[in-house]
Amino acid sequence: MGKILVTGGAGYIGAHTVKRLVSQGREVVVLDNLSTGHRDFARFCDFVQGDVRDPVLLDSVFSSEPIDAVIHFAAASQVGESVRNPLYYYNNNVSGAICLVSAMARHMVDTLIFSSSCAVYGPPFDCLLTEVHPTAPLSPYAATKAMIERILADMARVTPFQYVALRYFNAAGADPDAEVGERHRPETHLIPLVLQTALGQRDHLDIFGDDYPTEDGTAIRDYVHVLDLADAHIAALAYLRGGGASRAINLGNGQGHSVRQVIDAARKITGRDIPVRTAPRREGDSTRLVGDATLARELLGWRPRYADIGEIIATAWAWHSKEAARSAPVL
Ligand code: UFG
Repeated sequence: MGKILVTGGAGYIGAHTVKRLVSQGREVVVLDNLSTGHRDFARFCDFVQGDVRDPVLLDSVFSSEPIDAVIHFAAASQVGESVRNPLYYYNNNVSGAICLVSAMARHMVDTLIFSSSCAVYGPPFDCLLTEVHPTAPLSPYAATKAMIERILADMARVTPFQYVALRYFNAAGADPDAEVGERHRPETHLIPLVLQTALGQRDHLDIFGDDYPTEDGTAIRDYVHVLDLADAHIAALAYLRGGGASRAINLGNGQGHSVRQVIDAARKITGRDIPVRTAPRREGDSTRLVGDATLARELLGWRPRYADIGEIIATAWAWHSKEAARSAPVL
């Protein structure tokens, strides 16, 4: 077996996947421009600092390393930022994917696992979202993911190229050893913000909207543990190696938790006070996003090990407590 090139392997989901791959004896090269990733997250393997939009660098990596598959995480991933700066998203994400896939074609590397998102789905959202649910991206970020999926599908139709696009629901939690975890600067995600509030690093958490048509008025998401996502990437590689057809596959737990349920679970896990304030809805947020992962079970044999929101938050709590002890966060 050759090496696996992991772009964006110094980011949150990438770093957990790399750690898992290395623990299974796979050789990994991380390529990351460190625009949002962290050098210390990529300490388990070979590391190249650079951008996937740099064809000369890609040629040198593919020429010097025996790479036989690529896992592509490198992308910008904030919905709100993408609304404010769409060109950056189309350039970084879509051009980045085109450069990468072009380099793969030049070097005859045919296998790609791509980080996609449940954000590609359009309304209605009051059902379990399956892969045949209509796609209708609501933000530039989501549009980049849908465009890249389309590019990959078109490539797979006419060349030996094969791919799996994994549509994540809400990635959450951290490595139970707390060697890597979730570190976004600035942080915008619910669970890290809740836990930083529990740690006293923030004086309160804003609940973005308590007038949604849900039981407690707050928005519902399907939180899936980052290590379960990591395992799915490895299973997707095996699926393609076994002759599986190129396609998109959902990764979710099939269970929705509201913002208030997450905060209550965090209060239980941490035993800390978590002051909250109600704030207006955040632009672009959906009421509910919950995924059906039947296909992942059937095709990849994927069984999430952390289906319980309390367990997911407990692993994140261990990580954030360790981060807090190490350094004050940049808020
Ligand atoms: N929320 C708050 N207060 C906060 C932060 C978040 O109430 O301070 C709420 C949001 O409004 C939302 C929920 O918590 O209802 C989850 O928000 P996150 O920011 O944690 O996650 P999102 O669902 O907005 O987005 C995430 C990823 C995207 C991906 C999307 C798919 O960041 O990249 O999941 O659902 F596209």
